Amino acid sequence: MCGITAYFGEKNGIPIVLEGLKRLEYRGYDSAGIAFLNNNTIEIIKTKGKIQELKSLVSDKNSNIVIGHTRWATHGEPNYINAHPHLSMDKSIAIIHNGIIENHSELKRELKEKYNFKFESDTDSEIIAQLIQYFYQGDFEDAFRKMLTKIEGAFGIVAIHKDHKQMICARKGSPLVLGVNSNEIFIGSDPSPFIEHTKDAIYLNEKQMAIIEKNSYKIKDFNGFNTQSEIETIPFGIESIQKQGFEHFMLKEIYEQAETIQNCFRGKVNHIENISIKINNPNRIILIACGTSYYAALVGKYLIEKTSHIPVIVEQASEFRYRQPMLFTSDLIIALSQSGETADTLEAIKLSKKLGCNIAGIVNVTGSSIAKECNQGIYLHAGPEIGVASTKAFTSQIVALNLLNLFLNKNPYYKLEMIEELKKLPDKVKEFLEHQEILKIAEEFKDSKYFLFLGRDINYPVALEGALKLKEISYNPAEGHPAGEMKHGPIALIDSTTPVIVILTKDNVYEKVISNMHEVKARKGKIICICDEINNEIKELSTHIIQVPKTSWEFSPIINAIPIQLFAYYIAKLNNREIDQPRNLAKAVTVE
Ligand code: F6R
Repeated sequence: MCGITAYFGEKNGIPIVLEGLKRLEYRGYDSAGIAFLNNNTIEIIKTKGKIQELKSLVSDKNSNIVIGHTRWATHGEPNYINAHPHLSMDKSIAIIHNGIIENHSELKRELKEKYNFKFESDTDSEIIAQLIQYFYQGDFEDAFRKMLTKIEGAFGIVAIHKDHKQMICARKGSPLVLGVNSNEIFIGSDPSPFIEHTKDAIYLNEKQMAIIEKNSYKIKDFNGFNTQSEIETIPFGIESIQKQGFEHFMLKEIYEQAETIQNCFRGKVNHIENISIKINNPNRIILIACGTSYYAALVGKYLIEKTSHIPVIVEQASEFRYRQPMLFTSDLIIALSQSGETADTLEAIKLSKKLGCNIAGIVNVTGSSIAKECNQGIYLHAGPEIGVASTKAFTSQIVALNLLNLFLNKNPYYKLEMIEELKKLPDKVKEFLEHQEILKIAEEFKDSKYFLFLGRDINYPVALEGALKLKEISYNPAEGHPAGEMKHGPIALIDSTTPVIVILTKDNVYEKVISNMHEVKARKGKIICICDEINNEIKELSTHIIQVPKTSWEFSPIINAIPIQLFAYYIAKLNNREIDQPRNLAKAVTVE
């Protein structure tokens, strides 16, 4: 989704903002631009292309008040005119915006019809600059605040005015973080654009704004009253957002998983009772998420129902929020989100809160909107996930769900056994990653037209995730199904050219999956079997075998997820895809 960065200080902010925009590329974008103050005029430079192109357009410019934006088109096609920043009609104000202004059409009509305003773009964002101009009577902050009273929707906004050495930003529903240094302030949609300059950050709360001036900043509410702000230390360094020798962030993040799994349980596993979720013996748990996080939540259902005997419902946030869900105040609602900014998940959790439910989050990004809204839960501590396709967050979410399960479980022997097994998991992941040869298998299937992923029970969500990963980054049609459902339809797609990735774990459904493999083999499908032990029957049925280390049923989706991530990665790489920024996708889906 759109990315925001800005600089206010004493240096030339243009290279700083351009570097910041480069860091935000991972969010996905289709155009980019900057605006800066130059002797009481605002200059704007934009492009429909990549940041590299933008850099070539601004090489000789200099300014210490600069705003920058990467746009992911929602209203209006991706082109030069619709790229941010947007100017007011009199060119006195420039703004950048992330989110959606829901009532922009009415506001635009009013300004056009009653006051003769002219609009240049098809975006919802331009109205922000025009409204500030409409209200402006010499006081930039006052006009900005009046604009806020008119707009509805979600926004992170940064604005500058040609006659004021001020930068003003505001947040409602879209994150904004200030980086604070002596004599300079940075702004970002997340801290990655300024992490090498400062680790001191202020995460703006909902309906807070910041007024930045030379050597000072004030945090206020939308009514103009000063509010409290806390400086937090960003818990990761520049290395977390660099590729460190890997060809892609996605590969780096796959290889980080031994460490990220450990980071998720470190400090909690020996003190499960300290997990900060107030629970009151919930009658039901409702897990709400989107995409990969939803698949992790599905694992949670198998896990918690079987071992802690609490009913679990798993909901896709975009569906949940628009039907009238039957909720009870005794429900525990848990949102799962890597970014903590997914609009549908955020709204679903707000709705549950309004209905009186106890809400918690399993979130990666600290200080994110979902983390703030929930105010209790489990952080993944997986570090920034830059590749658009989620990998390390998925396995950490399953670790976190296991921690939650141990927190809920009443059997002390079970807890001890699981904790011991969990502690062994990072080494098993490392061992697998050091010896895997999935590239060779991918070479054989790189031109396949359709891929089928099969799993059962707790590993069925891994089949879904395998298909999603492959679709996202290789653009190949792929489906995940419960292996037992295959004969109710998908089997019709199998012929001698079809790769069928089967997840086979030595658990209660092992024999069932074996018979499903026979069904595939009888239709001449090419089985790639991911299993934790090998025997003659598996050898006879499979074209390729990927052996993963043995672990308990509870953690098997974690170890099985890694080969499906690598398989998707190599198929995409062999097809020369843009792996870290696949077409049409954004990292944090902050709009519906
Ligand atoms: C898939 C992927 C998406 C996200 C989904 C939810 O690789 O990244 O499906 O999982 O958009 O995002 P979060 O977890 O940030 O709420």
